[in-house]
Amino acid sequence: MAERRESIHGQWSGRWAFILAATGSAVGLGNIWKFPYITGENGGGAFVLVYLLCIAIIGIPIMVAEVMLGRRGRRSPINTMRHLAFEERASRFWQYLGWAGVVAGFLILSYYAVIAGWAVAYIFRTASGAFTGATADGVSSIFSELIADPERLLAWHTIFMVITLVVVARGVRSGLEVAVRYLMPTLFVILLVLVGYAMNTGHFAEGVSFLFSPDFHALFYQLDKNGVEQLTSEPVLIALGHAFFTLSLGMGAIMVYGSYLPKGTSIIKTSVVIAAMDTLVALLAGLAIFPIVFANGLEASSGPGLIFQTLPIAFGHMPAGSFFGSLFFVLLAFAAWSSAISLIEPAVAWLVENHGFSRISATSWIGLGTWLLGIGTIFSFNIWSGEEYQLFGKTFFDLLDYLTANIMLPLGGLLIAVFAGWQMRRTACQDELGINDGLIFRGWYFLLRYISPVAVVIVFLNAIGLLTF
Ligand code: PHE
Repeated sequence: MAERRESIHGQWSGRWAFILAATGSAVGLGNIWKFPYITGENGGGAFVLVYLLCIAIIGIPIMVAEVMLGRRGRRSPINTMRHLAFEERASRFWQYLGWAGVVAGFLILSYYAVIAGWAVAYIFRTASGAFTGATADGVSSIFSELIADPERLLAWHTIFMVITLVVVARGVRSGLEVAVRYLMPTLFVILLVLVGYAMNTGHFAEGVSFLFSPDFHALFYQLDKNGVEQLTSEPVLIALGHAFFTLSLGMGAIMVYGSYLPKGTSIIKTSVVIAAMDTLVALLAGLAIFPIVFANGLEASSGPGLIFQTLPIAFGHMPAGSFFGSLFFVLLAFAAWSSAISLIEPAVAWLVENHGFSRISATSWIGLGTWLLGIGTIFSFNIWSGEEYQLFGKTFFDLLDYLTANIMLPLGGLLIAVFAGWQMRRTACQDELGINDGLIFRGWYFLLRYISPVAVVIVFLNAIGLLTF
């Protein structure tokens, strides 16, 4: 069969363009908003250790596999999986892996855009000087007022969705590639400034020890509703799920980006660089936030509002804080933006390939659906926050987050590992990775075939209580 080895949607200009785009997808709310708060909720150091382990032995091997499948298939994830299954004489069922990814991306974006909306709202809040000299209580109440107001949340959610859709509709290359090139390094510098501030709070050591000294008791025992300690393996599932979430794995985002990757770029090297940058940003965010938490007597486990209740305190007290603060939220919004576009790119690429949609109409339809679903997340923080609207003690937003990050992404990643490791020919993998059967290939192949899938399955079984420690 004649091979068509370039995507109809175009190609990145080179290795660095891909690294930037994939890093743009990976670095987002997951690193700066989610990582600190789930670390705070799950006891700190031991959680971070499990998370780092998941990145190294599960995340990186699966990222290599996902990019590899994308580049070999050269199509949207659904068509890539259909095509590769055919090429490798595997079951047609594999195309549903692409489908599951599209659905996961849609669900994630619906709440992602709401939270990103908070970041946009905070640009203006901070710029207006609302936090100047503010106390921890004052900062917390500004946050509570924002999330209690569905109309305001809807406005910010809408604004964020619109800017995301505009970029996706125009194609990823022109606007975003350029923006991300300057914004990501700036974000990095601002994070360093914040870490510098945190160092002077007098509680830096406490923050470092919270993040890096593992206390396994705090990981495995959590207080239930009645304040009684219960043994649980859920935090391990959350760490695993977050490793997938933060690296954008398991739903086709990295696969579709891989499909625009020129032949000849080293997939292994680029994946390691992307994972390393992503991890660094998350750890820096933790180092900036926890010292402020301890210095102000705040609760590390205060949940999704954590960064919005801590960082403004720093901005309120540092010189030119309104400036640095609004710049920080601008960058956070940009980081979220470059992740959001990758969440719907698989669906858009598929509609364009299979149903002859123009990019603009594909983007508009999917965007409309996502926007509507996002309203459920908005209500989770106000009208639907009461227990009568909860299922298993979780709000609509919690459920969506749990289902996508902790179940759909790890499951998608598991299937990617199984397909690349067990269905694809070994020689096809080597050909696409462009390496021979040396140590690096064998190390990766071993992790992919045995370690990553088994680890995911064990964590899953544990979490549904089939296995106990
Ligand atoms: N990785 C992004 C973040 O950390 C979220 C994301 C998940 C993006 C899955 C794309 C796909 O914010």
